Amino acid sequence: MPLPAITAILTPRLTVRPVAGADLDDLLEVNGDDAVTRFLPYKTWQSAEDGRAWLARMEALDATGTSRQLVIERNADGKVVGTVLLFRFDEGSARLELGYVVGRAHWRQGYAAEALLAVCGHAFGQLAVRRIEAEVNPGNAASNALLQSLGFVHEGMFRQRWISKGVATDTNIYGCLAHEWLRGNRAA
Ligand SMILES: CC(C)(COP(=O)(O)OP(=O)(O)OC[C@H]1O[C@@H](n2cnc3c(N)ncnc32)[C@H](O)[C@@H]1OP(=O)(O)O)[C@@H](O)C(=O)NCCC(=O)NCCS
Repeated sequence: MPLPAITAILTPRLTVRPVAGADLDDLLEVNGDDAVTRFLPYKTWQSAEDGRAWLARMEALDATGTSRQLVIERNADGKVVGTVLLFRFDEGSARLELGYVVGRAHWRQGYAAEALLAVCGHAFGQLAVRRIEAEVNPGNAASNALLQSLGFVHEGMFRQRWISKGVATDTNIYGCLAHEWLRGNRAA
């Protein structure tokens, strides 16, 4: 069975919902920024064409049933401030991987934490996922701290796991288990 589609996940300030073509202008602001893509596996978008190519890749991935590309929309004004990707869904092991991005203009306003709390809650609840994992470059201070604040456990480091932008990079592995999440291991 594929990873079930997600219609919309509502939080006080945000709606996390599937990406649409109309989001690409806002997403060009997010991904057209070297500070945002520094630790990401794709190049900084230079144009609308880069956005369309990314969307086509994400739609193809979604069609495999192992991935859902979502965006984080701000309820107050409909602005898309970031993305959440659920991917590498393994039905047999009830496991998936998490990726996320917030535009630089919106950093440190609690958007990533608010969106991921809701998305992980949905995955562990309605989707009956047992384990969520994430890979983070050890130099990505914001992302490492974010996951720890959400209660993810640093389980180890894989050496030179990726070649990212021409450089071999280590990867921190984080995991969160459903029972840990439900018992509320998160930082205050
Ligand atoms: C990582 C990222 C998504 C965080 O988004 P954000 O909306 O700014 O994060 P939040 O405001 O929700 O922060 C939640 C917590 O994460 C931690 N955190 C976030 N940014 C941080 C930073 N720059 N330095 C240290 N800790 C940070 C803090 O614990 C923070 O809680 P606090 O503000 O109460 O101290 C954002 O920096 C980003 O998009 N970076 C570029 C893309 C990226 O690296 N994605 C992850 C790839 S693995």
